[in-house]
Formats: sequence, structure tokens, C-alpha cells
Amino acid sequence: MIGESEKIKKVFSMIDKVCDSDTTVLIQGESGTGKELIAKALHYGGVRKKAPFIPVNCGAIPADLLESELFGHEKGAFTHAIRSRQGRFELADGGTVFLDEIGEMSPMLQVKILRVLQEKEFERIGGTKTIKSDFRVIAATNRILDDEVKKGRFREDLYYRLTVLPISAPPLRERVTDIPLLADYFLAKLNNAKKRSIKGFSQDVMSSFMNYAWPGNVRELENVMERMVILAEGEFLTLEDLPEHFLEARDAVVSEIYEIPAQGFYLSKVVAHFEKKLIIQALGQTKWVKNQAAKLLNVNRTTLLEKMKRFKIVKMVEE
Ligand SMILES: Nc1ncnc2c1ncn2[C@@H]1O[C@H](COP(=O)(O)OP(=O)(O)OP(=O)(O)O)[C@@H](O)[C@H]1O
Ligand SMILES: [Mg+2]
Repeated sequence: MIGESEKIKKVFSMIDKVCDSDTTVLIQGESGTGKELIAKALHYGGVRKKAPFIPVNCGAIPADLLESELFGHEKGAFTHAIRSRQGRFELADGGTVFLDEIGEMSPMLQVKILRVLQEKEFERIGGTKTIKSDFRVIAATNRILDDEVKKGRFREDLYYRLTVLPISAPPLRERVTDIPLLADYFLAKLNNAKKRSIKGFSQDVMSSFMNYAWPGNVRELENVMERMVILAEGEFLTLEDLPEHFLEARDAVVSEIYEIPAQGFYLSKVVAHFEKKLIIQALGQTKWVKNQAAKLLNVNRTTLLEKMKRFKIVKMVEE
């Protein structure tokens, strides 16, 4: 897992602390933030690494099927149960069950899962024999489970059981300093996979990356990079290689949390960058009427024009 930001370091240290424990972990975070990667790091970094890691996507499997997937069933338990079958809890003996998208699980199953978490034993569907299996549960969701509980869609008791060890996967826009690291990592990986030899990024591509809100987080960055690496014509990736929606998004101001990296940064550059963004925002809000934008910012019109020239601010999207 790539990252050096304070937020991702907190995740790494949490992984270190809890990977050997048997307690359930709940990983929460927006889509594409690396929840599955965290789950795997917990499993393969811990004492259970030699036993199976069994992922179950609770959102993708229909409710009745999900129950028999997890618990298994005996022959004749239902119409299509031609032979008996082990469930994933049983198969994961000694290892980890990863309950992905647990927020999508039906209330009926939530009750059963709570019981399994507490007792570590269960019966197959249609069976009477109690089965013991020693597995650890890691769950993940991109819903705000807290809200789901308040809305009555997720059981409170299960929620408390799951959140004994919570890990939150931070959105990419809150760890801007990781963007260049991830971009370099994906570039190397993609050069290799696509047999290309792109040397790097132009400065403005990287600053577009760092200004963008990344609603799809690391996965979106990976996808954007793949597209750029395949289509790029030059040795370096330039603004021309960026997808269209990026250029539009460049004008949107992203709420940003600056982190000061351990090696330090150039205050004047960061401040200039921030100034530029605010000017673009003011222009956007006033439909590029410069008098009004200057008023919004409490600067003279000539000062605004000078700054626009210095920062090379031009209207990019025609309304
Ligand atoms: N820190 C990281 N370093 C390297 N690759 C990462 C990192 N975080 C995420 N990725 C990559 O980004 C992609 C998305 O990660 P992952 O599938 O773990 O996200 P997710 O949170 O489970 O997403 P979703 O909610 O959509 O299921 C994967 O290809 C993963 O390898
Ligand atoms: Mg996932």
C-alpha cells in the first residue's frame, strides 16, 4: 500500500496494531479508497495469513443465496440443494471472512451474523449439527453506518459489535500529498503492463491531479492513469492527455486540507496556488465579470487582471 500522508500513516499503524487480534474490524470509507486492500493487509500481515482469506460481497449476492453462501446447507434444505455444501464461514476456518458492503445486508441476515460473531458457532441451513469454525471477520462499507442505524436500516447491536475496532479509509482529496506517490506508482506499473515507457508528468498535470476532488478516489486515479498511459503520444503526460472532465473540474474549488509533508514545502508556491484557486472561484461565481469578481475579492480591477495574467487564468469552459 502506497502512502506517506499523516492520514494513511494512521491507517498503517492501526493495521499493525490489530492484524493479530481476533476482534472484528470495520473498515469504512468512500468507494475506491482501498478498503479491500486494507482488509488484505490485515489478513496477510497477521497470524492467520497461511489460512484462507475469503471475501464475500454482501451487496452483489441476493439475500437468500447469501445466507447459504455464508452458512452452507444440508442436502434437501431447499429445492436446489442437491448435495450438502460448506459455507464460507466454515471454509475460512483459521482464516478471515471479509464481509464487503455489509451495509447492504438484509435485516434478517444481520441478526444471524450477530449471533455468529458472538458465539463462533452455527448450523448449516437445514442442518441440526452445530459447526464450530475459527474465523475472524473483517467488514467494510462505503455507507455511513452510523446514519443507517439512525434510519433504522442497520441493527444497532450489530453496529456496536462491528465497531470495536474501526478503521476509516481517508478519501484521496484529504491526503493530497499521496497523489504524486500513487501516480508514480501507477505509472511504473502501467508502463510495465502496457509495454510503454512514459517518463513522467508535466507540472500542470500534477497540479490538476492535486486540485481534483477524486470522487472515485484511488481507483479513479488508477483508471485515469491507465487511460492516459494508453493514449499518450509523447514521452511525458501533459494536460492534453487529461480526460475532458478534468479540465472542467480544474475550475471547481475543492475544499482542501493542506498537509505539510515531512520534507517540508514552499510556502510561497502553496499560497500562490491557493490564491489562484480563489480567483478562479470568484470569476466562476460572477460569470467571469471581472469588475464583480474584483469586488468579491476586495481588490482593484487592475490587480485582478495582473494576477490573472501572472497565474495564466483563462476561461476554459464556455457557458
Ligand atoms: N494506498 C494504496 N496504494 C496502492 N494502491 C491502492 C491504494 N489504495 C487503493 N489502491 C488501489 O485502488 C483500487 C481500489 O482499491 P479497493 O478495491 O481496495 O477500494 P475499495 O475501498 O474496496 O473500493 P469499493 O468501495 O469501490 O469497493 C485497487 O486497485 C487498489 O489496488
Ligand atoms: Mg471494495
